Amino acid sequence: MIIGVPSEIKNNENRVAVTPAGVTEFRRHGHTLYIQKDAGKGSGFSNEEYLEAGAELLDTIEEIYSVAEMIVKVKEPIAQEYPLIKENQLLFTYFHFASSKELTHAMIERKAVCLAYETVERADRSLPLLIPMSEVAGRMAIQEGAKYLEKPMGGRGILLGGVAGVKPADVLVLGGGIVGTEAAKMAAGLGAHVTIMDVSLPRLRYLEDIMPANVDTVMSNEYNIRRHIQHSDIIIGGVLIPGAKAPSLITKAMLTMMRPGTVMVDVAIDQGGCFETSHATTHQDPTYVVDEVVHYCVANMPGAVPYTSTLALTNSTLPYALQLANLGWQLACTKSEELRKGLNIVNGKIVYRGVSDAFDLPYVDAHEVLDSYSSAD
Ligand SMILES: NC(=O)c1ccc[n+]([C@@H]2O[C@H](COP(=O)([O-])OP(=O)(O)OC[C@H]3O[C@@H](n4cnc5c(N)ncnc54)[C@H](O)[C@@H]3O)[C@@H](O)[C@H]2O)c1
Repeated sequence: MIIGVPSEIKNNENRVAVTPAGVTEFRRHGHTLYIQKDAGKGSGFSNEEYLEAGAELLDTIEEIYSVAEMIVKVKEPIAQEYPLIKENQLLFTYFHFASSKELTHAMIERKAVCLAYETVERADRSLPLLIPMSEVAGRMAIQEGAKYLEKPMGGRGILLGGVAGVKPADVLVLGGGIVGTEAAKMAAGLGAHVTIMDVSLPRLRYLEDIMPANVDTVMSNEYNIRRHIQHSDIIIGGVLIPGAKAPSLITKAMLTMMRPGTVMVDVAIDQGGCFETSHATTHQDPTYVVDEVVHYCVANMPGAVPYTSTLALTNSTLPYALQLANLGWQLACTKSEELRKGLNIVNGKIVYRGVSDAFDLPYVDAHEVLDSYSSAD
C-alpha cells in the first residue's frame, strides 16, 4: 500500500504519526511510505533518519495527499486540508468528530474512509489509542504540579519529597484511572505522601495492591474531598465519566478551605474540567490564580513533550496501521472488531453511533457498509 504522512499543521502540534522505526516496519511488509519534508522535526526526527529508514520525502502536503492510499496523521485534518482528501482515501488519525460539526460534514462530503484513533476499542472496552496520551498527561501532571509548587512560580514553596527531618508534600489524586495511576506513581516515586480517590471500589482495591506504602486509597465523595483538600499541596484532577462532562468535584467555595499556594492540575479539562473554577489554558500561559490557589489547566498536555508523546502514540498505532496496510481497510475491519469500532465515516455514511447522535444525522451500521464492499468485490 502507498502510505502518506503529512506534517501536522494544526497550531502548536509537534507530533508526527510515523517514526523512522515505523517506516522500517512498513518497508519490511512491502509498503511504500511518503513523508512530508520536516514532518518529524518537531519530535526530533530528521529527514535523513527517515530516508535511511527507507521513506520517500515529498516537499508539499498536496503531494502527500495526492499519492497516498492511506494517510496516517496525529490530529484531525484542518480546513485547508479538506480539499486535498480524495474519495475512498483512508484517513487514520484522531478525529473527535462529536466536537466538530464542520469536520463531520467535510469528511462526509469528501467521501473519505475515516478511522478514528479515539474509538478503536478492545473487547474489555478499553481505548488502546487514548491510553498512551493519558499516561503522558498523568506523569506530566506531577512534574508540572511540583514546578508550580515552587515559590517563584506562585506555589507554597514546598519540595515534593521533603528532606530528612521535614515532611514531604501531600498530593491528592482525584480519579484512579490511567491519568490518576500514573500521577500517583510519579508522586510516590519522588517521595510525596499520596492519596488517590476513586468512586470504584474494585479500582481502589487494585490500586491498594499495586501502589507503594506512601500511597493511600480513599473512596471519592464530597465529605472525603473536603477533608483532604485542607492539607493537600497538589491536587490532580483525573476523573472521567465516559461521554459526559467531568463532574465538578471542587467548587469555588471550597477553595477558601485550602492553603494559599496550593496547586491544582486539572487534567480532565479536555472534558470540561473537574474543578468549578477551571478554564482551559495553553502551554504559553498555563496557570492562573483564583482565591490564592494556582490552577494549571492545559488541554493538550502531551504537546509539551512531543518526542515522548510521538513514541508513546506510535508504539500503539503502528500495529493497527500495519494491519490496515497489509489487509486493506475492508478486510482488516472485517477481521478485527477493534479496528471496525474505529470506523466513523465511510464514503459519506456515518457508521459510528456517537457521531450520528451528536448531529442528528443518519446512521448506517458499519457491518452493512463492509458487506456492501465485499459483495462489490
Ligand atoms: N489535559 C490533557 O492533556 C489530557 C491528556 C490525556 C487525558 N486527559 C483526560 O484525563 C481524564 C482522565 O483520563 P483517564 O484516561 O485517566 O480516564 P480513565 O477512564 O482511565 O479514569 C477515570 C477514572 O475516574 C474515576 N471517576 C469517575 N468519577 C469519579 C469521581 N466522582 N471521583 C473520583 N473518581 C471518579 C473512574 O472510576 C475512573 O477510574 C479524561 O478526561 C481524559 O480525556 C487529558
